[in-house]
Amino acid sequence: MRRIKHNWVVTKGEEYTELDRKVLSFQDQGYLCPTKSLILTPEQIEGVRKSGIINTGILDLVGREIHAGMTTEEIDKLVYDYTIQHGATPATLGYEGFPKSCCTSINEVVCHGIPNDLEELHEGDIINVDCTTILNGYYADASRMYVIGKTTPKKQKLVDVTKECLEIGMEAAKPFGFVGDIGYAIEKHAHKNGFSVVRDLCGHGVGLKFHEEPDVLHYGKRKTGMLLVPGMVFTIEPMINMGTWEVFIDSEDGWTVVTEDELPSAQWEHTFVMTDHGLEILTH
Ligand code: MF3
Ligand code: CO
Ligand code: CO
Repeated sequence: MRRIKHNWVVTKGEEYTELDRKVLSFQDQGYLCPTKSLILTPEQIEGVRKSGIINTGILDLVGREIHAGMTTEEIDKLVYDYTIQHGATPATLGYEGFPKSCCTSINEVVCHGIPNDLEELHEGDIINVDCTTILNGYYADASRMYVIGKTTPKKQKLVDVTKECLEIGMEAAKPFGFVGDIGYAIEKHAHKNGFSVVRDLCGHGVGLKFHEEPDVLHYGKRKTGMLLVPGMVFTIEPMINMGTWEVFIDSEDGWTVVTEDELPSAQWEHTFVMTDHGLEILTH
């Protein structure tokens, strides 16, 4: 027998709202539902949106400044300075011991690369800069790919298809659909283009915390995972590989995630809010 996880709870004596009835009808059928704490109020969503505006300013700035010969340490300094100047804090700085204000992941590095002054960008590199901003306690998390000069057609295709995966995942997410609908759509598009999907890392609830439920897998089956309810705030951040989907963690720094076959990987990320009509980007 399938056990139902009763996440959506109506306190005794409280009136049932229309939303309660709707979510409970899914929960009673055995679908995984969010807790009410995952539904942000309009004020909280505005808070994440404001944080997202600063986050976007950072990634735009990186886009203007990034060039061959620059070190990843210099990117980190741009991120740190801009964040502080705008009254915000970089969420990764000191997070579980992570030492920098953003992650910089070049070519075969999938994610969580640590900026440092020995690492220089070269013509043809593809790099992901991932940045999470905290403003007034609200978290906005986004990343983009930057191509240094001109790269190979294959690497350019990886960058482009990964961006499409994010967009297709966004379109697949419907109110009262499921998190699994997102992963299904992303995996299909990646495979169609001959690429693979990283399985060890996923998107996540965000907004009031850095990492929160639900887990947003970038592969899987439709109608699985958590029910998508308006007011939920989460990321989609597909990591797409040119070769195998398998990855390992650099044993020296304990952070850097690298493709097993050392072929290139790409990633794009946005923070979204579910509305009555579908996803809205909070990190434009
Ligand atoms: N920003 C990353 C994410 O998308 C998390 C980085 S955590 C760090 O979830 F510690 F590696 F920085
Ligand atoms: Co994230
Ligand atoms: Co991120």
